[in-house]
Amino acid sequence: MTISEHDRLLIIDFGSQVTQLIARRLRELNVYCEIHPFHLVDDGFLAEFAPKAVIFSGGPSSVFAAGAPMPPRSVFDLGVPILGICYGQQVMMHCLGGKVERGHGTAEFGRAYVTPTPTRLDILDGWFETDQDREQVWMSHGDHVSEIAPGFEVYGTSPNAPFAITADTTRGFFAVQFHPEVHHTPNGAKLYENFVRLAGFKGDWTMGAYREEAIARIRAQVGDGRVICALSGGVDSSVAAVLIHEAIGDQLTCVYVDHGLMRKDESEQVVGMFREHYNLPLIHADESDLFLGKLEGVSDPEAKRKIIGGLFIEVFEKHAKEIGGADFLAQGTLYPDVIESVSFSGGPSVTIKSHHNVGGLPERMNMQLVEPLRELFKDEVRALGRELGLPDSFIGRHPFPGPGLAIRCPGEITREKLDILREADAVYIDQIRKHDLYDEIWQAFVAILPVRTVGVMGDGRTYDFACALRAVTSVDGMTADYYPFSHEFLGETATRIINEVPGINRVTYDITSKPPGTIEWE
Ligand code: XMP
Repeated sequence: MTISEHDRLLIIDFGSQVTQLIARRLRELNVYCEIHPFHLVDDGFLAEFAPKAVIFSGGPSSVFAAGAPMPPRSVFDLGVPILGICYGQQVMMHCLGGKVERGHGTAEFGRAYVTPTPTRLDILDGWFETDQDREQVWMSHGDHVSEIAPGFEVYGTSPNAPFAITADTTRGFFAVQFHPEVHHTPNGAKLYENFVRLAGFKGDWTMGAYREEAIARIRAQVGDGRVICALSGGVDSSVAAVLIHEAIGDQLTCVYVDHGLMRKDESEQVVGMFREHYNLPLIHADESDLFLGKLEGVSDPEAKRKIIGGLFIEVFEKHAKEIGGADFLAQGTLYPDVIESVSFSGGPSVTIKSHHNVGGLPERMNMQLVEPLRELFKDEVRALGRELGLPDSFIGRHPFPGPGLAIRCPGEITREKLDILREADAVYIDQIRKHDLYDEIWQAFVAILPVRTVGVMGDGRTYDFACALRAVTSVDGMTADYYPFSHEFLGETATRIINEVPGINRVTYDITSKPPGTIEWE
């Protein structure tokens, strides 16, 4: 089976911050869906995509604005169910003969409670059964619907939203004023479940099926060409490599660039696992002298990132040439990166940090890209990794940034500091594992600070480095909260680090959230 043979749901994106969450809710239901910005969806696209159902996302616009985002009219003639959310509801009413009014004083942001009208609606199965017949929902809208379109009826109201839930059951059009995809609409997933059931989805999008399909696609794309992959030891590049290897065997070569900025024993573990368990052709390029040499005396964070990014490409290219070049470059690009690059609202406007990747290489070396994870979200990549037999301990690993320990060592990087940092980090992670907290935390690490402080150990004075422990919870790394360790845990960890790691005599805990901080220190 190919993706085009699966039942497909189309999400038309009108620019909501949470459109990706709609897709995630659907993927959790084993429904294949794609997000496309409204301006790229025209009649031809609809005919080719042939969705089995359509969802209109929310969005920041007003239907009154000049050039307001609209779907093509033909979407209403496809004969498939449509669900409009927030701005999507307003668009639906606007297009089908209802009325929308400007916000003026009726804008609504935050928690609200919806109660049902007497008539039952299939899409609301499982709603209004508990909690005194009302459901908590999340509202976030400026304009509002003041008159519903002909054929629609009201099935739920809230004090400020008389048309909170509306539907034209004959045509299978549903429209809600609130956001069922967010956490603050606790029963929202049920609404999506009912919608896809009513639309007749089989729920055939599983990682087992995906594995087979992806393998067939890789074989078709690559033929007897050669593929090269930069293996970082992270989940994405690892899953991509194992999948491609399963598809084309030794036509794939992986290059693991050791920049000397990895954690304790990390390189040996990564390389060992791929060599032993997967028998995958792998070059272990130890380039630590080169990287650490070029980083000597550099303390500016952006300068560090640029040096590492540039060297990485150089080194990777050198090793690729040594094995006689390749026709394809494999990358672990995920669906959120794909959406970001086509989103009509565009990416972030300010560069906070220049991220490290192998950008520019495919053009320089005249290679095409193989990106077998382009349709997947991170949790799906993990599920695929399990399907491919990667150990859970590996799949559940915290993210580790491309520039490695360089950005956890503010100020000048020295081998001495890196060695101390590796030891302290190993003790900290050991503590977290021993207390069974690893899986609750998105990312945890130590940063070594560019200051020495005075301490006393035994009868002697010490003058050693201070370090900061960092641990955050997060859904996607975009925002984060510091992890609320107990004081006992922090005290025990500080004692262990100071006793077990020569070179550190002071431990602090970083309690900054993101924003305003970032997760990494640089
Ligand atoms: P920040 O520090 O920006 O990090 O809050 C957000 C997430 O991204 C990771 N990160 C990187 N990952 N290359 C990567 O592959 C990079 O250059 C890079 N910089 C930060 C960071 O570890 C966190 O998970």
